[in-house]
Amino acid sequence: MKLLWCAVGAIIPFLSVNALIPENKQQSIQQPGSGIAGHEKLDDVISASPLLSLHRAICEVESISHNELAVGKLVVSILEAHNFTVKTQGVPQPEETNSTKPRYNIYAYPDPSKYSGIELDSIPSPKVVLSSHIDTVPPHIPYSLSLPAAAARSAKTREDILISGRGTVDDKACVAVQIQTLLDLLADPETKLDPSDVALLFVVGEETHGDGMRRFSASDLYEQTNANYKAILFGEPTEGKLATGHKGISMVKIKAHGKAAHSGYPWLGRSANSMILPALVALDGLGDIPEDVGGLPRSGKYGKSTVNVGLMQGGVAGNVVAEYAEASITFRLAGGDADEVKELVTEAVRRVDPDRLLELDFAQGYGPVELDGDDVDGFDTITVNYGTDIPNLKVAEGVKRYLYGPGSILVAHGENEGLTVGDLEEALDGYKTLLLRSL
Ligand SMILES: *[C@@H]1O[C@H](CO)[C@@H](O)[C@H](O)[C@H]1NC(C)=O
Ligand SMILES: *[C@@H]1O[C@H](CO)[C@@H](O)[C@H](O)[C@H]1NC(C)=O
Ligand SMILES: [Zn+2]
Repeated sequence: MKLLWCAVGAIIPFLSVNALIPENKQQSIQQPGSGIAGHEKLDDVISASPLLSLHRAICEVESISHNELAVGKLVVSILEAHNFTVKTQGVPQPEETNSTKPRYNIYAYPDPSKYSGIELDSIPSPKVVLSSHIDTVPPHIPYSLSLPAAAARSAKTREDILISGRGTVDDKACVAVQIQTLLDLLADPETKLDPSDVALLFVVGEETHGDGMRRFSASDLYEQTNANYKAILFGEPTEGKLATGHKGISMVKIKAHGKAAHSGYPWLGRSANSMILPALVALDGLGDIPEDVGGLPRSGKYGKSTVNVGLMQGGVAGNVVAEYAEASITFRLAGGDADEVKELVTEAVRRVDPDRLLELDFAQGYGPVELDGDDVDGFDTITVNYGTDIPNLKVAEGVKRYLYGPGSILVAHGENEGLTVGDLEEALDGYKTLLLRSL
């Protein structure tokens, strides 16, 4: 079926997700040797599955953080075509991006008049919300399909088809699986799912500022809908395991202001690079020294806190004493909280900077985030070292928080980002189980 791609925000007469994917978006794939059963093309496997074709459609739209409008429109059109009521929530661009591009969070629920035949005068208060993010890290990498050589020779080739490209794992796998979970359960009368018990929340800006989720957390929409929450299912790559928690984070920027001079007469200036170096060396080792001598917190659950001196900038040329230098350091916290770590880091810097010449700017951080993962049978569990939007959504005591999704974080931000058809389909089953148990 042909579809005018640019008109995706307008009314769409097609009602299956498959119908939303234009034929001309299909890729030509080189089929390795023995191929899959019946010589199907890899593309045909994707097109034949509502989940896989939905995933392909949203992965084909670039949505690097701060540029989420196009993918937002596509997700809205898909949800509306399936009789979901969609509320979009504008999220202003952070000031430092200098951008005025519009972007929005998406909150959606099965339209009560179409799914239950009842008109409501207010928004339902769901029991379970499924949430993930629609932005990705740069650069955009086009969607592609391949069949690893070893898999081509094995029996279960369909599940082994590798889907690669930016966002295929983080986090459009979860967006697609969460949507398909609701569509499948709503279509199956045996599940007795009450449409007013579920909602979807897709946010922008997770990879940079967490501003999408914070905007939702502070909004009237959230106030109006969060009265009956039992659980929130957050989607991020956890290798199909249930996360029992994730590490915390603390970030600091160190700035040094020196005095420029000719490098032949360095005593006439003060090198900002030389000022900042001892602090960087001290912080770089802070995860490895024992806690009782000022090291970062450790715990049985997460092991050591780790340090990344991720960005250093200073000076203008090799023959000029550097006037200005700065560095950005990220700590992944195995214990403690952001305030404690701020104090530890400040002390470590001041030991090598007794005159307090260095400026320290801490970003808002948080300690390890404990999740409900131990209370559901049938899932392997895992702890993860990355941050999520979970701490950005304030929830009441007793609301369960789960973190679950297909694919591995180890490839998520890399140029080899990808997962298999089997990973996606397993996660669909996992989400159905999690959702029904949460109700
Ligand atoms: C959407 O609702 C309309 C009207 O109630 C119905 O005819 C149609 O089958 C529904 N479509 C889907 C995809 O549920
Ligand atoms: C934003 O604008 C300011 C002032 O014009 C400039 O210094 C800064 O580099 C810009 N930032 C970005 C991310 O473009
Ligand atoms: Zn993510």
